[in-house]
Amino acid sequence: MTPDMKVTIAGVELANPLMTASGCCGYGEELANLYPLSKLGALVTKSITLKPRLGHPVPRTAETASGMLNAIGLANVGIDDFIREKIPFLAKQKTVVIVNVAGSAIDEYVEVSARLNDQPAVDMIELNISCPNVNEGGMEFGANSRLTEQSVAAVRKVFSRPIIAKLSPNVTSIADIADAAAQGGADAFSVINSLVGTSVDVDSWRPRLTNNKGGLTGPAIKPVALAMVNAVYERSRLPIVGIGGIATWSDAVEFMLCGATAMQVGTALFIDPFTPVKIVNEMKTYLKKKKISAARDLVGKVRKY
Ligand SMILES: Cc1cc2nc3c(=O)[nH]c(=O)nc-3n(C[C@H](O)[C@H](O)[C@H](O)COP(=O)(O)O)c2cc1C
Repeated sequence: MTPDMKVTIAGVELANPLMTASGCCGYGEELANLYPLSKLGALVTKSITLKPRLGHPVPRTAETASGMLNAIGLANVGIDDFIREKIPFLAKQKTVVIVNVAGSAIDEYVEVSARLNDQPAVDMIELNISCPNVNEGGMEFGANSRLTEQSVAAVRKVFSRPIIAKLSPNVTSIADIADAAAQGGADAFSVINSLVGTSVDVDSWRPRLTNNKGGLTGPAIKPVALAMVNAVYERSRLPIVGIGGIATWSDAVEFMLCGATAMQVGTALFIDPFTPVKIVNEMKTYLKKKKISAARDLVGKVRKY
């Protein structure tokens, strides 16, 4: 029997639990040249802001041991061009579309989200209240319980479909921030965004990123992400989308056992854009071998000592 790979996040059914992570496949157009996006549980877009942004000057990525640093600076086309040029393409894709929203003030999150509410092709939004790479906004919201609750509550008033709050690992208690986001009306959490880090060139004595610091991602952050997924799972009943260093089927299984209902693949897409598709297929083999009939039966089943 083929295992049932379907999962549900806030009432939205996904064909399988694997999504792309924001910022790691643009708006999906390049990926669609490689395989039908229906192979993904969902596609998550790059963060969209009110105005277009060029982002930080290069270099804005650097390789690290088992990962990478980036400080892209939320380069994106802005909401007007996104609606005009990207939504028509996304509307045609047979996958769940999640638009990631960023801003430097609560009003900006609200305005972008309100515009997206008028777009039926957008199934859910993911609020990036956790970007470590811009001076204003982003992580500032997600590192403070009061601002987290306020920003989610303000967006809740203008967006009628599910809201996923993307949480920052750069906090004292991610479970407390999750509580605040739930209080504001979030329907689900994405756990985690990148960890603040830096790297210095010893010849020039210059940081390897023009932003001086950036976000660490990739396999290096997986153990941190797993612990944070589990901390949020133990605190909240809302579904969790696990993110951080996922590159293989066993990474994805670990996330589900720790409490994730779905997973996103980010950095691994730069190595192999087929990663999420391969993970889905290989997870099926694992489930069959284990005689588990549905992927969702793994959620939260870690056997703790
Ligand atoms: C180059 C790059 C750009 C990113 N841009 C965004 C972004 O615009 N918005 C966002 O919420 N997260 C962004 N992220 C964070 C990812 O969505 C994800 O949370 C993080 O990379 C951890 O997953 P990974 O280890 O699988 O890469 C970006 C990550 C990378 C590597």
